Amino acid sequence: MREKIVAGNWKMNTSLEEGVGLGKKLNSLLIDSESVKNPKVILCAPFTHLESLVKSINAEIVFIGSQNCSQFESGAYTGEISAKMIRSIGVDYVIVGHSERRQFFGDTDNIIALKLEQCYKNNLKPIFCCGESLKERQNHKHFDVVKSQIVNAFKQIDVADFKKTIVAYEPVWAIGTGQTASPEQAQEMHSFIRSIIAEIYDETISENTSILYGGSVGAASASELFKCKDIDGGLVGGASLKAEDFVKIIKS
Ligand code: PGA
Repeated sequence: MREKIVAGNWKMNTSLEEGVGLGKKLNSLLIDSESVKNPKVILCAPFTHLESLVKSINAEIVFIGSQNCSQFESGAYTGEISAKMIRSIGVDYVIVGHSERRQFFGDTDNIIALKLEQCYKNNLKPIFCCGESLKERQNHKHFDVVKSQIVNAFKQIDVADFKKTIVAYEPVWAIGTGQTASPEQAQEMHSFIRSIIAEIYDETISENTSILYGGSVGAASASELFKCKDIDGGLVGGASLKAEDFVKIIKS
């Protein structure tokens, strides 16, 4: 059985004090609600906040993730943070291949594949992101683009490692734009992604993989999206910065 998951991606927002405050508030709102543990809740915070969040949040209720890791193991890579370092402070998840990393920081499919390897090696679970741009969708290339992102990322990854992966479909045109994909558009792509995973691995693996939708998910859009057969939750940016809004999405 695949897990229902709602993950928040804070991106480059909040001071340490604000971030820990937000995490604690979310934690207490969830303790007071019935939805504890289902869905699983993950907060992907800036590197500087991770250790404090791990220490101040109930690990049974909210899991902590980073938003990136280095593709290298260790050594002379000034400014980088390795998967081993992230794991060493008790973090469980890492977002890999977010479109903002692909767009602004040169994360190619090859680099993303190396980052995935580092995650598996260091016992971190990746939240792997894929998704097409507006132009690619308009040119009817969205299925090809998403397929090649997935195939290139996982072609060297064995099944035991893949099982630790969460996939997130995030159409670039929907991220931070307020323009959510319709439930039909999202379901269509999620079902396609499941078929690609079945091709690379097998039907059972594919059925057991959690595939999250991301891109302007809000309290209003979440429930329709999460009802879709192949949508197992969300990766939420903007709306995860307000504890009450995020809790509404979690309860959707
Ligand atoms: P958004 O971001 O919810 O603000 O659109 C989603 C994401 O980038 O993960």
